[in-house]
Amino acid sequence: MRELYIAGNWKMNYKPGEAAVFAKQIADAVKNLKVKVMIAPPFVCLPAVTEAVKGSNVIVAAQNVNDHASGAYTGEISCDMLKDIGVNTVIVGHSERRQYYGETNEFINKKVLFAIENEMDVILCVGETLEERDSGRLEKVLADQINIGLSGVSENQMEKITVAYEPVWAIGTGKTATPSDADSAHAYIRSLIAEKFGKTVAENTIIQYGGSVKPANAKELMACSNIDGALVGGASLTLEPFLSIINASKK
Ligand code: 13P
Repeated sequence: MRELYIAGNWKMNYKPGEAAVFAKQIADAVKNLKVKVMIAPPFVCLPAVTEAVKGSNVIVAAQNVNDHASGAYTGEISCDMLKDIGVNTVIVGHSERRQYYGETNEFINKKVLFAIENEMDVILCVGETLEERDSGRLEKVLADQINIGLSGVSENQMEKITVAYEPVWAIGTGKTATPSDADSAHAYIRSLIAEKFGKTVAENTIIQYGGSVKPANAKELMACSNIDGALVGGASLTLEPFLSIINASKK
């Protein structure tokens, strides 16, 4: 049985002080819930946030990581630096990184491999643009993102991988995939994982949905058999909607 996993991607929002206060409110509010909850603040907020949620069941993640151990990579952050402050989870391949910073499937794969070799948990984001969907390329795009993104990952290492299906056209637009469209994309992703790693791994892999998840649509989305949680952007930036999504999501 896959665990329900609700994550908040704060993107480029909040300064360290306010992030710590907000993170503590989340930690207090979810302490008795049996849902896996993650928050991903900006890099500079990570020390304050890890401190604020210490001892709670809230996971703190980074929004990106470099694919090298250390060295001359100006502006970058390594796995070791993250682990040193207690951050053991990272989001890789978010569509905003693909779109604005030119990250390719091959580059994302290097980060995935480096992160899991460094014992980190990874949320690998995949998803198609509207143009790709409308031109009938949904399956090809997802197949490339999964097959290349997870290339070289072993069956055992798949324990460290969560996949987030985030159709680009649904991110921050207020448009959500219908539950049945989302569920069928998730089922397809699961079939790709089954082909590559076998049925058991596919059945155990958590696949989150992301893209305008709100309290109003969370229950319906999470009720789908292939949707195991959410990667929430805008609605994770304040307490009430994020908690409502967490509560609405319980299956
Ligand atoms: P929104 O929930 O704001 O659409 O963002 C989704 C997302 O990109 C989460 O990573």
